[in-house]
Amino acid sequence: MASTISFSPGNVQLARIIDDHSYAGLRPLTAPRYVSIARRPKSHSSTVIRASNENETSVKTSGLSIEECEAAAVAGKFPDPPPLYRPTGPKGTPVIQPLELTKRPRRNRKSPALRAAFQETYLSPANFVLPLFIHEGEEDVPIGAMPGCFRLGWRHGLLEEVYKARDVGVNSFVLFPKIPDALKSQAGDEAFNDNGLVPRAIRILKDKYPDIVIYTDVALDPYNSDGHDGIVREDGVIMNDETVHQLCKQAVSQARAGADVVSPSDMMDGRIGAIRAALDAEGFQDVSIMSYTAKYASAFYGPFREALDSNPRFGDKKTYQMNPANYREALVETEADESEGADILLVKPALPYLDVIRLLRDNSALPIAAYQVSGEYSMIKAGGVLKMIDEEKVMMESLLCIRRAGADIILSYFARQAASVLCGMRSK
Ligand code: PBG
Repeated sequence: MASTISFSPGNVQLARIIDDHSYAGLRPLTAPRYVSIARRPKSHSSTVIRASNENETSVKTSGLSIEECEAAAVAGKFPDPPPLYRPTGPKGTPVIQPLELTKRPRRNRKSPALRAAFQETYLSPANFVLPLFIHEGEEDVPIGAMPGCFRLGWRHGLLEEVYKARDVGVNSFVLFPKIPDALKSQAGDEAFNDNGLVPRAIRILKDKYPDIVIYTDVALDPYNSDGHDGIVREDGVIMNDETVHQLCKQAVSQARAGADVVSPSDMMDGRIGAIRAALDAEGFQDVSIMSYTAKYASAFYGPFREALDSNPRFGDKKTYQMNPANYREALVETEADESEGADILLVKPALPYLDVIRLLRDNSALPIAAYQVSGEYSMIKAGGVLKMIDEEKVMMESLLCIRRAGADIILSYFARQAASVLCGMRSK
């Protein structure tokens, strides 16, 4: 036995890999440079997969030259390779003729290294947008229905949260304000107060972190005493064109404060074209529009409305948000938004609407966003708290599946937690 490398059944470990994190894949995620060395994970769990657990062992050489080795091999004399090994099944395994299959898809899944090589979809912190709730207070107030989420004070908690998110590579944020009741009105004029909560928060963020991407929500509901995304007529109708007029002023006010991407979530007709024109007229040609193209009238928004205290005071949002039963209708919205100049198209909610994400992906060349909404987040959190599911795995799988369906970016309350996992850090 010349070989010192043994390959016995006892240590057959063709590939010992931390496979749990295959959603992150083996794509070399560049850890953000501001992650300090001390906080770097010890193992490269999610970024590097080692195909063997063996320590490097050197085999003693015999000192023979290549010619001597070749001559020995021709003469049938060479060091013993590891013994052949054919694992057997447990006692009672039936002895059968193998099926004559031309295709065995399991071959491409047989080891972590192969699975990693053939992984089609990846998650990266660069794809995440973190929604943040802000308020006028100094303290951060936990949101009951969304464990782990807070209404953040715009001068303190907001900045801290953004700092922590940047630390794990999340650089995009979308702001949602909780407006004091006394500032709400039926026309929602507070939405375009240049000194309102959102413009102030944008300015403080841009001052401290000029490199982040700030998305804003364009809709009247946080500012509207009726809790609707548009102005409510006395007979209960949500007025379209008058609302669009207000939304244009809101978008311009946000752009003036430094917003990078304004995101109309109101579902009024014609608002993309009108907002584009209003932004351009004020010299904001560089401000992008992410349109909530296919936003459904969904019960999954419940926890969000609690967070912002923005429940409609009467009725529902079905005359402007889409019917969850509808698929083709999303194409009507897509065509309108594309022709009116949207830069990004968004589908919301995400997981129950993967087919719609795929529909938009296949019918537009624009980047597609998906919003994993409050109810989706709360369900996963609740399942985790009750120990009914593995929160971290379900979180990562749901995000990966949204990407697989065709989303380029994902708005998710899990953005920071998921990014921590991708960076190989503890997720909480
Ligand atoms: C309203 C708005 C809503 C959400 C984002 N923007 C709620 C609604 O339409 O009633 C929901 C987000 C979530 O549930 O996480 N403009």
